[in-house]
Amino acid sequence: MTSMRILSGIQPTGRFHWGNYFGAIRQYIALQEENEAYYFIANLHALTTVREPQRLREATRDAALDLLALGLDPQRAVLFVQSDVPEVSELCWLLMTVAPLGLLERCHAFKEKKARGLMADAGLFTYPVLMAADILAYDADLVPVGEDQVQHIEVCRDLARSFNHLFGEVFTIPRAQLMERAAKVPGTDGEKMSKSYGNTIEIFEEPAAVRKKVMRMTTDSRPMEEPKDPESDHLYQLYALFVGEGERQAMADLYRRGGFGYGDVKKQLAAVAEQFFAEARQRRAELVRHGERVDEILAQGAVRARRKAGDVLRRAQRACGLSIA
Ligand code: TYM
Repeated sequence: MTSMRILSGIQPTGRFHWGNYFGAIRQYIALQEENEAYYFIANLHALTTVREPQRLREATRDAALDLLALGLDPQRAVLFVQSDVPEVSELCWLLMTVAPLGLLERCHAFKEKKARGLMADAGLFTYPVLMAADILAYDADLVPVGEDQVQHIEVCRDLARSFNHLFGEVFTIPRAQLMERAAKVPGTDGEKMSKSYGNTIEIFEEPAAVRKKVMRMTTDSRPMEEPKDPESDHLYQLYALFVGEGERQAMADLYRRGGFGYGDVKKQLAAVAEQFFAEARQRRAELVRHGERVDEILAQGAVRARRKAGDVLRRAQRACGLSIA
């Protein structure tokens, strides 16, 4: 594979959960090896829901600590905070001028809020335009995300094409990259794992708390003897994310044979999850002791990100007639 430019963002709206990890963060880590990668903490997007300054500040810092602990390497990838790159907000305005209202009305975050009869603000409505600016500002080829972000990346592609059509080949057209088996990680109730559904298990939650949540996960009520299809069961789907091919097969066989209890699967799931994140947990504790190092990483990341975003912004400004030189 030739080297590509990778970009992705993650909101600091709460602690990261298994869905964030397997759907997105694991891809960030894998893709930083051979590519030019930019990853940011989307605090401007979070501002559409988090209205407590102290909480936003803390969540932003926690997000940086979590990503570094999980293996994001600042020597390989650029890690920064979204609001440290004001060029993106300027680029967002340029894209706003080519964003049809109908397109934004169809985007699910806004549509769902409206359907529930809640008041939506312009920030939520134009959320996908800012996200498009995030992506286009770095000439990204590939955007590693979970399935719920695919619609937003389609919007980004549309806006980039419209702008290019009007003003010439300014923007690189990106595409989404999804993780097999993990594009839509299920939560404790079998629905998509999501903070807004209250069905998350957090990556750095205490092992005892994780075990408790796992043991309480909903299961179907078919008798133990009955053979079951592993792929349609969320306990299996989660277990499969943590283990290698051999263990996955063994568990799938157990399901197909029947005669086992969900309690055993739950115990195994809690055990593999604890082991899986044990090293990252230790690294995180170490990073907490060196807080100033995290600030440095983010400051250096912002400088590198601004350099790239500034180039792209100037290119776009020239193309549409904003600079008279
Ligand atoms: P956010 O913060 O909601 O989620 C971060 C990433 O985690 C993925 N994800 C999941 N993947 C699989 N299964 C799940 N249950 C699950 N839950 C969350 C999300 O798909 C996402 O990849 N709008 C974005 C943040 C953003 C962004 C960007 C992303 C802002 N600008 C530019 C990419 C490019 C968001 O709210 O993600």
